[in-house]
Amino acid sequence: MPGYPVLPEGLAYGGDYNPEQWPEEVWREDVRLMREAGVTLVTVGVFNWGLIEPREGEYDFSRLDRILDLLHSAGVYADLATPTSSPPTWFRRRYPGSRLVDREGHVLGGGSRHSFCPSSPDYAAASERVVAALAARYAAHPAVAMWHVHNEYGWANAHCYCATSTEAFRAWLRERYGDVGALNAAWGTTFWGLTYGSFDEVEPPVAAPVGLLTGLQLDFMRFSVDAHIACFRRERDTIRRFSDLPVTTNFMIPNCKPMDYWRWAAEVDVVANDHYLDSARADPHIELAMAADLTRSVAGGRPWMLMEHSTGAVNWQPRNLAKRPGEMRRNTLAHVARGSDSAMFFQWRASRYGAEKFHSAMVPHAGTDSRIWRDVVALGADLRALAEVRGARVTAEVAVVWDWESYWALEFEWRPSADLRFRERIEAYYEALWREHVTVDFVHSSADLSPYRLVVAPSSYLLAEAAAKNLHLYVEAGGHLLVSYFSGIVDENDTIHPGPYPGALRDVLGVAVEEFHPLREHETVMLRSPGSPEVSQPAATGRIWSERVRLAGAEAVREFADGPDAGHPAVTRHDLGAGSAWYVSTALDGESGLRDLVAEVLDHAGVSRPRGLPDTLELVRRGDHLFLINHADAPVTVDGVTGAGVLDGAAYDGSATVPAGGVVVVRT
Ligand code: GAL
Repeated sequence: MPGYPVLPEGLAYGGDYNPEQWPEEVWREDVRLMREAGVTLVTVGVFNWGLIEPREGEYDFSRLDRILDLLHSAGVYADLATPTSSPPTWFRRRYPGSRLVDREGHVLGGGSRHSFCPSSPDYAAASERVVAALAARYAAHPAVAMWHVHNEYGWANAHCYCATSTEAFRAWLRERYGDVGALNAAWGTTFWGLTYGSFDEVEPPVAAPVGLLTGLQLDFMRFSVDAHIACFRRERDTIRRFSDLPVTTNFMIPNCKPMDYWRWAAEVDVVANDHYLDSARADPHIELAMAADLTRSVAGGRPWMLMEHSTGAVNWQPRNLAKRPGEMRRNTLAHVARGSDSAMFFQWRASRYGAEKFHSAMVPHAGTDSRIWRDVVALGADLRALAEVRGARVTAEVAVVWDWESYWALEFEWRPSADLRFRERIEAYYEALWREHVTVDFVHSSADLSPYRLVVAPSSYLLAEAAAKNLHLYVEAGGHLLVSYFSGIVDENDTIHPGPYPGALRDVLGVAVEEFHPLREHETVMLRSPGSPEVSQPAATGRIWSERVRLAGAEAVREFADGPDAGHPAVTRHDLGAGSAWYVSTALDGESGLRDLVAEVLDHAGVSRPRGLPDTLELVRRGDHLFLINHADAPVTVDGVTGAGVLDGAAYDGSATVPAGGVVVVRT
């Protein structure tokens, strides 16, 4: 298998390069500016299908030839993309059966990208042909360093409900279940008498009058992931006939809910990710850190590639905020700190026309006399200085459980409360850990947990029996587990585990839940120390959830002081074997109890972390390098830092001061 890294040295720096939108004089300026900024890798050809195959079976590679030659002459490598996420306009007309159909039955239009059915045999044949032609032509081109298959699988066409997809789904079910009786048992179709007599009676989960079978919905999600993976494999294996260079595709972790990236990870030579800040958030850099940690975890801890992020505003949010001074640098270096060996942007030069003309770029519409351009050049220098971190690993003592199937299942309709959202609890716990300066890995519940002192499961609604056993054994062997409410409720078919909740976790947690008592919107409940008439100091406050917990081996650590479960346990701990299992039965948040609880559990689990630092300082160790990223408006001094400053050339002897909004990287 081709290896990683893709470049002979250093961290890859660059972005999506779409020179087809510009006259050739501009290309010459582009490569001059790329050299000025220290760009080493650009993604080319992502949306070129209609340009390299203007008529079916007729290829014109002349423009791409000139672009690749020019890049090579400038010493810039190409991440050569297959153009299959944007089929040409002739394709749609020639193969109407390939059109994407949404769950309401609308046939979606052209004039855009991603408008095709992933199960279409016509799409399969046409995409394989163009990929073979591209790979044959450029496999030996000296500019090409790697292959970028497609673009963001499943982003806009995750699910197709056309007749072809329906047949493909039935075939997938036949393969999974063998006979329809097994499907009926798995989906629980005696409910509403929805028993299927044959696989041909199954329809995809199209718009229905009321709640759909959740087993049907889950399997359709799984089938759709497989449909996209099959498209990727077809292209990857076609490229392999001509080239040994690494092949990847750009994921959208964690912002493409329908794609199960644990399943995708094994398919690529290097994990690549696109990440954009959500400017509606108060502290968007915490979600960025979470995305980077999850990407590294999907990559199995190996270095990964940041394939796209932005120098400034995007164009597709309701309000597209520009990045503030220093923010782009902090963002990029946070990705590097958390394991990326590249810093790539969408895109090199801002478009003048089309849907994305208000998206920021490395070369903005304002040109080079601009803050963004100066920052891009300075970032190039930072990345050259950081070449030495390439390949280094990040290690973590704490893991957070993340399971896309649980994400899907939790958010189907008709749950006990509309406020039960998968990412809501994960992000709350992630933020508490981030503010405690604890770096985390993400894991699937069935993964090897032995490297971790603490495993946090904030949102594990769906938990297979075997995964629950894995957690149990982990605790018995000395691990510490922290679980939030509405976890371990159903199995992989969305069927409730037998007995009182949380069926799959009852034994390990040492509790039984008799009844759920979801709270009204904006309603809160107070927590106190058990048996104390007073509300604990500082007071903890819960939202969203309350429930009647009975102790069955665990002890109460906090109890509800009011609300439907006043006087009953709210937080419990079960000492089991050599470890402990904690359970939290309401939604605690940062300063209203979660930070304190997380700190208590971290201490109990013996997780080491720096103390006394502001919770706006991001601190990550990657190999021998300590990254200190200051998200506050005031400088911060960190004690216990000795080593060489990689970005500033300073010698740190016992402490380092990180300027307001600045970044210090120390080789320790
Ligand atoms: C990505 C996509 C790019 C561009 C970018 C804009 O999701 O891969 O092609 O559209 O978004 O933010």
